[in-house]
Amino acid sequence: MADLRKKLTENVDGLFFVDSTCIDCDTCRQLAPEVFTDIGNYAAVVKQPETDDELRSALRALVACPTGSIGTIEKVDIKSAIAEFPIEIEPGIFYNGFVSPDSYGASSYFLRHPDGNWMIDAPKWMPQLRDRFREMGGLRYIFLTHRDDVADAERYAAEFGAERIIHKLELSAQPDAEKIIDGFEPISFAPDFQIIPVPGHTKGSMVLLYKNEVLFSGDHMWWSRNRNGLSASRSVAWYSWKEQVKSVKLLEQYPFRAIYPGHGERKALTTETMSTELRKLIQVISR
Ligand SMILES: [Fe+2]
Repeated sequence: MADLRKKLTENVDGLFFVDSTCIDCDTCRQLAPEVFTDIGNYAAVVKQPETDDELRSALRALVACPTGSIGTIEKVDIKSAIAEFPIEIEPGIFYNGFVSPDSYGASSYFLRHPDGNWMIDAPKWMPQLRDRFREMGGLRYIFLTHRDDVADAERYAAEFGAERIIHKLELSAQPDAEKIIDGFEPISFAPDFQIIPVPGHTKGSMVLLYKNEVLFSGDHMWWSRNRNGLSASRSVAWYSWKEQVKSVKLLEQYPFRAIYPGHGERKALTTETMSTELRKLIQVISR
């Protein structure tokens, strides 16, 4: 629940505001980029919603904020915004919202598949999501890209009897995980699903490539709004930047048209354009 007494002075006046408990996780800017902006260590309202679409996006951001830092100066009905999650971002793939402060607001995803549904990283526990996942056939696998973004994976796994997949080197975050990936060789885990270890951000970071089309990239690589291109950062290479550069280069041999990360922006292009963007990133980080 946001606190008007802690309202950041950078907010433009109006219905919505952000308070000083914001952790600058980018969730609101992804959901309502026209309303929220980055002011350094916080987000703030740069423009109050004017259209129905903008209002809807701002309400989605309000309910998705992991720290409850977005508020309104008057009471608003948020029930319909809550009911919108998970949000389908392309056919069969959903952004879960309800990001957890435990994972610094990392995005997680739900993927419908005829052989059993997947979740990629985890949101905080929400009965609303549980019910929607159940309606869509439950969960077979929970793929954990790395130790930072597990949030309430254990509870979702227990609820659905899902198997959690994590690298051996990240096991401290999920010691009871059912499927443990060892080593650094890419694995064809199931038809349509390739698991690719990408050491760098953490030693046991992994990405999931779906149908050679969609890359769930965790905190390995993401789309940057500011650079308008793919991005990876030395400042968050907790394990090794040198290894991360190698891991980014490794992805050149895998086609994908869309990238859905833990942090940073989601982006869907054509395979050809994405491959050009990847080559541009490799040039930048190889310098
Ligand atoms: Fe991370």
